[in-house]
Amino acid sequence: MFFVMEKLTLESIIRVCQPAELTNDERQLIDMAIASTQHSYAPYSHFHVGAAVLLTNGIMLPGCNQENAAFPAGICAERAAIFAAGAQYPDEAITTIAIAARNTAGELTPQPVSPCGTCRQVMIETETRYGHPLRILLYGAEKVFVIDSIKQLMPLSFSEF
Ligand code: THU
Repeated sequence: MFFVMEKLTLESIIRVCQPAELTNDERQLIDMAIASTQHSYAPYSHFHVGAAVLLTNGIMLPGCNQENAAFPAGICAERAAIFAAGAQYPDEAITTIAIAARNTAGELTPQPVSPCGTCRQVMIETETRYGHPLRILLYGAEKVFVIDSIKQLMPLSFSEF
């Protein structure tokens, strides 16, 4: 028997934008994420992350990372924002999330910051829960990555059992 191994090549589409190419809502959401970095509690990593989510009713909510001496107890900015939205507006789909971060010197990162695997998994569930794609805006001072669905960042994701 002779097998030819099949390879699967996965592609992610990410648009690289300047702020001027974004909508007013998207710029406002990024501004909220940047402002939220100031409220981050990150005495261990000194990496201050801010996020903001836009809901279908137009409301924008911030979130930021909250660390803890017992490391796993802390939470990322993305999940803080998504879970706050779920607690306050459980029936409103989250349509967009913006993420920004300041480095240990307190400067906004020049390059976009990419969400961790756990936050990606929560974003997948958010899309499934609301049946709505979640647009992701990853802010960097030099460029903004625009991603139309978390599926682009998490192919072959686990979403049902
Ligand atoms: N962090 C976030 O809040 N979001 C990300 O996308 C990456 C990492 C936080 C977790 C931790 O408080 C700090 O950044 C360093 O990893």
